[in-house]
Amino acid sequence: MQRNLMVRHRAYQAVRNYLSSRGFLEIETPFFIRSTPEGARDFLVPSRINRGKFYALPQSPQLYKQILMIAGYDKYFQIVRCFRDEDLRADRQPEFTQIDIEMSFVGEEEVMEVSEGMMEALFRETVGLDLSPPFPRISYREAVERYGTDRPDVRFGLELIDVGDLVREGEFKVFLKALEKGGRVKGINAKGGARFSRREVEELTEFVKRFKAEGLAWIRVGPDGPSSPIVKFFPEGVLNRLSERMGAEPGDMLFFVASEERVVHQALANLRLELGRRLGLIPEHENRLVWVTEFPLFERDEEGNIAPAHHPFTSPVEEDIPLLDEDPFEVRARAYDMVWNGVEIGGGSIRIWDRELQEKVLKVLGIGEEEARGKFGFLLDALEYGAPPHGGIAFGFDRIVAMLLGESSIREVIAFPKTGTAVSLMDGAPAEVAEEQLKELGIVVVPEG
Ligand code: AMO
Ligand code: AMP
Repeated sequence: MQRNLMVRHRAYQAVRNYLSSRGFLEIETPFFIRSTPEGARDFLVPSRINRGKFYALPQSPQLYKQILMIAGYDKYFQIVRCFRDEDLRADRQPEFTQIDIEMSFVGEEEVMEVSEGMMEALFRETVGLDLSPPFPRISYREAVERYGTDRPDVRFGLELIDVGDLVREGEFKVFLKALEKGGRVKGINAKGGARFSRREVEELTEFVKRFKAEGLAWIRVGPDGPSSPIVKFFPEGVLNRLSERMGAEPGDMLFFVASEERVVHQALANLRLELGRRLGLIPEHENRLVWVTEFPLFERDEEGNIAPAHHPFTSPVEEDIPLLDEDPFEVRARAYDMVWNGVEIGGGSIRIWDRELQEKVLKVLGIGEEEARGKFGFLLDALEYGAPPHGGIAFGFDRIVAMLLGESSIREVIAFPKTGTAVSLMDGAPAEVAEEQLKELGIVVVPEG
């Protein structure tokens, strides 16, 4: 732990030195704020002086840094705590640290260039490794097609291959039914996987079912050609073209999932990682950083409602603006993520700097004029004062330090982290408070149920 915190210390210094040397100003922003939406629940702080009112703790300093740009501070950064009430995982804590950056008069290129330089300095000064920017770029669409996910681990192959057009010529009902319903059929060539036992194949089938796939079809490629209960459904010509497209060689095993597109991608993205691990195909000591670009501006949330894919202040790609009315889900965002060995370590965007366009995007999100004025009036007003084009990014500092150290949980690089149920083991927070304190705040706690 001491070594980890020492490396963390060096990481702070590397970031501060690099960004200062590039002319960035470190500015602190408030923790008691009006809620900024980043897609999680807010932590609330009751106000004693203004009874019945609450501050929110920032999910990020997003709106503050935009206002700073409008106020004329053209290069800002902050190493800052962010607070999000969400389900916790190995790479998520309720409070975590971001390297937060914003710049004026820039496009994607400038933000990416500064970010790459910062990562280069970070690697050099913490673990003595050389990165060689620029990092490769891959569009969101291509990432999802080839890897099934917007955070691809590109250290190894096993890419997803579309076989919908080929299996359409066969008679395997499971595949045909998925295609009929507008779904997809995609496969992975598990190089050297022919040696998987029946039991392992069953395990892999159970594995993909966790990601909502209905099953896992397979073809074993032996020295005498393909064998599987499903080969009988395909004419030989189709099997040959399938083998060719998937680069099948004796010793390989082909796996397929047929379902709606989202399920196919989710199941195969996870299967790809699992196969990579089982077949020993992931070069553990390599570091591959890539940019994922051209995200959609909107997505559907769990209830199927339209929601921002990044946050509501992200600029659409200019040529897609007319689609905001016609087909909002087709609008691309000027957003980018940095992905390191399959982990999203940072994300940002070029922002909307025009009041009308900002109001329009809020409207598409179902936030009417009045609500917009109530929640974001200060931003909308600021946009009238000649807001410069601006954009930025935020990095998950804990994730970066954990990865530099080869730790699999960010808890290993945080002093006094919380458990998976958001409890502080040292002091026992959260805890009950005195009746007196609640009274002062005008709060009554209602027992659950
Ligand atoms: P975003 O929400 O993508 O963007 O967050 C940026 C980065 O922060 C890290 N991160 C987390 N790390 C630990 N625990 C968490 N709960 C957690 N949540 C996020 C991730 C992520 O890539 N304001 C925008 C940035 C911008 O547009 O400039 C933002 O916060 O590594
Ligand atoms: P069945 O016709 O249900 O006996 O399935 C035959 C094979 O197809 C089994 O290996 C199943 O795991 C597999 N399978 C079933 N549903 C799917 C699906 N949606 N996608 C891919 N394979 C499937």
